[in-house]
Amino acid sequence: MKRNLETNNYSLRERTQIDLSQLLKLPNSEFVKKLNLTTDFNIENEKKRIKRLIGRSSDEYILWDIYENNNHLNIGNLGFHNLSLEHKRSEIGYWCHQDWRNKGVIQECLKRIIKYGFEIVNLNRIEAYLDEKNGASEAVLKKLNFTKEGLLRQHYIHGGKVCDSLVYSLLKDDVRQV
Ligand SMILES: CC(C)(COP(=O)(O)OP(=O)(O)OC[C@H]1O[C@@H](n2cnc3c(N)ncnc32)[C@H](O)[C@@H]1OP(=O)(O)O)[C@@H](O)C(=O)NCCC(=O)NCCS
Repeated sequence: MKRNLETNNYSLRERTQIDLSQLLKLPNSEFVKKLNLTTDFNIENEKKRIKRLIGRSSDEYILWDIYENNNHLNIGNLGFHNLSLEHKRSEIGYWCHQDWRNKGVIQECLKRIIKYGFEIVNLNRIEAYLDEKNGASEAVLKKLNFTKEGLLRQHYIHGGKVCDSLVYSLLKDDVRQV
C-alpha cells in the first residue's frame, strides 16, 4: 500500500518502485502527463534520479511527489534516502519547482514527513547534507530546528567539481524537547 500523506495545503503521494519502472518506459510527454508535472520540469534530471533509485529496496528510500490540493499540480518532491532501519537514521532530500519557491511549501511538507519518519518509520536521526551556498536549504533546516554539525570536506561531486557539504541533523530527542 502507498504511504501517502496529507498536509493542510498539499498531498504527498508516494512514488513506488513499480511507478518508477513504469515511468521510465514512457515517452517524455506521457511521463509529464502521468505525474501531472509542471511543463518546465527537468525531465532528464528526473529520469536520472529514477534510474538511481530503481532496484533499491523500499526500506532504503521513500519518495513523495508534492501535489497542490487546489489544482492537483505536481510542484516538487521530497523524501528519505540512504535510509537505515538498523541504525534508525535517514538522509532527507527536497526540491520545489522554482515558481513555487519561498512560499513555505517545503517547510510544510518536510514537517509532515519528519513526523512520519520519527513516529512511523521509527527513525531516531534525520540528516541533511547541503552546499554551503544553498541559503534557502539552510534556512529551511534552521526553521525546522535542525542542528548544524559541521562541514564535510570534499564530500560530493557535482558536475565534475568536488564540493564540501554542510551537515545538519534533527534527533527524535530534539523534537520531544520542543
Ligand atoms: C531549497 C528549496 C527546496 C526550498 O523550498 P521552498 O519551498 O522555497 O522553501 P520554503 O519556502 O519552505 O522556505 C525557504 C526559506 O528560505 C529563505 N531563503 C530563500 N533564499 C534564501 C537565501 N538565498 N538565503 C537565505 N535564506 C533564503 C526564504 O526566505 C524562506 O525562509 P522564510 O520562511 O523565513 O521566509 C528550494 O529552494 C529548491 O528546490 N532548491 C533547489 C533544490 C535544492 O537546493 N534542494 C535542497 C538540496 S540540499
